[in-house]
Amino acid sequence: MSALSFDDWELPSPPPSRTLSPPPSPSSAATPTAAPARPATPTPPAAASIPVAPTLAGNGGANPALAAVSVGDKRIVNGKGDINQLAPFKYAWAWEFFLKANRNHWTPLEISMAQDVHDYHHRLSQSERHVFENVLAYLTTSDILAMRNIGLAVMEKMSAPELQIYQARQVYEEALHTWTYQHCIESIGLDQQDIYNRYRVVPEIHGKIALANRRLEKVLRSDFDLTDRANLHEFALSYFFFAVIFEGCWFYNGFTPIFALQRRGLMKGAAEQLQYIMRDEVMHCAFGIRVIRELLAEEKLTLDPAALRLLWDEAEAAESAYAGYILREPILGYNAELHVQQFRFIANRRARQLGIAEPFPGAENVLPWLDEQANLRKEKNFFETRVTEYQTGGALAWE
Ligand SMILES: [Fe+2]
Ligand SMILES: [Fe+2]
Repeated sequence: MSALSFDDWELPSPPPSRTLSPPPSPSSAATPTAAPARPATPTPPAAASIPVAPTLAGNGGANPALAAVSVGDKRIVNGKGDINQLAPFKYAWAWEFFLKANRNHWTPLEISMAQDVHDYHHRLSQSERHVFENVLAYLTTSDILAMRNIGLAVMEKMSAPELQIYQARQVYEEALHTWTYQHCIESIGLDQQDIYNRYRVVPEIHGKIALANRRLEKVLRSDFDLTDRANLHEFALSYFFFAVIFEGCWFYNGFTPIFALQRRGLMKGAAEQLQYIMRDEVMHCAFGIRVIRELLAEEKLTLDPAALRLLWDEAEAAESAYAGYILREPILGYNAELHVQQFRFIANRRARQLGIAEPFPGAENVLPWLDEQANLRKEKNFFETRVTEYQTGGALAWE
């Protein structure tokens, strides 16, 4: 694929092949106690939400708890396989995501912020400082929320270990992102009490976080029973909101104002930090889209179009209000209208990747430089901010 379109991938249609899903083996079918299905009335909650591994403290081959399970028993959720058996893989693509994620490793300490300190205090206008601070404030709150959602809600509901192991990496990456924002905030000397409270006191920032909390609140419960079809649909919608909108649109779009500064030679260290984060987030979104496609196919589930429409509309309204606040005064080369139009363009891209109708037909790519700007290619070494180089850091590709 083109180096300029690292995020503009599309999965082939029709939905993914299920040839890796042989029917359950006779041995597994005969031993349902090896990994019991989620009970319809899950009590206690913690035990009900995760398929359990068979005990090894039996009496040799006579103990049915030691019977083998089959790769065909794995499912995205509600699986009957063994959560402690990594392979054989049913979802080999998930393992590939894990391997590729490990090629994008950095720490925020490796990128020099010295010029950013000078830029912030001496080169940015008042309006540009307003944009920079509030983008950081939104992003850092969002990444804490992302870490908690994956680690406490989504991961435990996945019933194949190759899915969980990528999400374990994702939890770490979200923490790394939070560290990165904190490193920027500390380096530049911003008031932490002020920055971390912005989402609580600024309604336009609070609106996006509150919407996320509302969409994710119920599925955060460990006793959320996914054998119930209505709950399963709600989980799929929530995961859609999180992976496609929150990570795939809001994060992607969220970095853009800083990239607009970077294009003018400002805040280059912070922007490079965000380029590394963006590569993670694009992978998080791609993984989530793949999970949703597999989940819908496995469960013969269709996302309700009216519910999807509401999600898109709520997300657009929250993004518009947010843009109106952070860009209440336009900065050179960037304004609120461009920000919202770009949200709609990226939303259409995500819909195509998922194989559903575009929510904003006709939305134009008003920031044609964004994909190139976001694509960190160290061979260009364009800003030379890196203190050290990772050999693997410049060669990431996932399609
Ligand atoms: Fe993140
Ligand atoms: Fe993420």
